[in-house]
Amino acid sequence: MTPRVDDATAREFSRRLRAWFRRHHRDLPWRRTRDPYEILVSELMLQQTQVSRVLEFYPRFLTRFPTVHHLAEASPKRVREAWEGLGYYARARNLHALARHVTRGGADGTLPAHPEELRALPGIGAYTAGAVASFAYERRAALVDTNVARVLTRAFAPRLDPKRPRDLTRLWRVAERVLPSTGKATWVHNQALMELGALVCTARVARCDACPVRAACKTGRRSNVTR
Ligand code: ADE
Repeated sequence: MTPRVDDATAREFSRRLRAWFRRHHRDLPWRRTRDPYEILVSELMLQQTQVSRVLEFYPRFLTRFPTVHHLAEASPKRVREAWEGLGYYARARNLHALARHVTRGGADGTLPAHPEELRALPGIGAYTAGAVASFAYERRAALVDTNVARVLTRAFAPRLDPKRPRDLTRLWRVAERVLPSTGKATWVHNQALMELGALVCTARVARCDACPVRAACKTGRRSNVTR
């Protein structure tokens, strides 16, 4: 069963989360843009690579391929070279295929704003679709990756195991349930969920003493020390 989250808890969770993010977030280049292509590149890089490493490669990649058209026209070899050091080259191949797909036959290279349409593109899964919809287009779209799944499990569903596909589906419902009401607030909310998972509610330790949403968290409320 999908865990129940009442309206007041959902609102409180998101409100506190966003207030915390405004004060404590890291200034990262992909948080300064709303360009769908730039967002997509960052999200694909961040999928299997640490932020510190992505920071080294992201600006260089965008200098070489400033738009989806530049990328579409590049040779596979140049794309591979620009990705060198990030590993998991399937991501670069998918990105290149996507660039060619959205520009083929003279198409203008626009990425769709709706998660369902984004998911139809090569190499875009549910997470990336939610990320582009909310981070580039400021749509009210949910996203769940490993970090967000951990935060939502601890906060609302400690009995779920995100590694089980059925439970992951339930966590997506929780993620949708706790979204704020507007697209603009969703941008902040989703960035904040990622940031909380990276800085406070980490895989190694849940720093409940430093957590802004502790009062709305099933795990934090029960713990009297850092856990
Ligand atoms: N990992 C994936 N997306 C991210 C983002 N927008 N900010 C920080 N880390 C991320």
